[in-house]
Amino acid sequence: MSEFPDGFFTRQDETSDAAFYSFPRYVTHIDDGAIAAVGALYDELGIRGAVLDLMSSWVSHFRAPPERLTVLGMNADELAANPQAAELVVHDLNAEPTLPFADDTFDHATCCVSVDYLTRPVEVFEQVARVVRPGGLFVCTFSNRVFPTKAVRGWLYTDDAAHVDIVREYFTASGAFDSAASALRTPLAARGDPLYGVWAAVKA
Ligand SMILES: C[S@@+](CC[C@H](N)C(=O)[O-])C[C@H]1O[C@@H](n2cnc3c(N)ncnc32)[C@H](O)[C@@H]1O
Repeated sequence: MSEFPDGFFTRQDETSDAAFYSFPRYVTHIDDGAIAAVGALYDELGIRGAVLDLMSSWVSHFRAPPERLTVLGMNADELAANPQAAELVVHDLNAEPTLPFADDTFDHATCCVSVDYLTRPVEVFEQVARVVRPGGLFVCTFSNRVFPTKAVRGWLYTDDAAHVDIVREYFTASGAFDSAASALRTPLAARGDPLYGVWAAVKA
């Protein structure tokens, strides 16, 4: 991972993520405008079929649930409360980036407001490309809010534009995706939370 400087993936709180996420947080991490922008992006990109929502909780932000939504995250109670989910998996991606799914299990994958917590993102992106069928999309969305003690330092010390570049670099460094697209999906002059998307298709 020579593309990233020393210390990029360190965090203020290096204790187990399982402890941090041991109790459920039934909150939304972005405002209504940003949530609507996530659902609109999923619709526009055709995120349907068998979908894996990585780093998920009690909400997945689809306007209408995909045919089969699998949610993977750290808190079983939050995941069990997700009304759009058909299957839930508790799995710590920082402890074990290997995803517990067979090759080509999913049509698409998503990750909303959470990519900043990954300490081994390139391995996770490689894994997403393994479990999503060729041509399927991986859609990462994020805003400008974080749990600061758990976000990697490379994210904390950079701005929104750099965050887009960082996620694009995760896609590139994995070597498993076509070139990524990115966009600010909320109006530039809007007062609320900005919502950025970076997405790419698994190489055929
Ligand atoms: C800010 S919340 C976002 C939740 C949800 N995606 C949303 O849009 O509201 C961060 C999520 O990342 C998940 N997460 C954090 N660290 C993780 C890890 N090491 N492995 C898997 N999931 C993790 C947590 O379970 C939590 O639900």
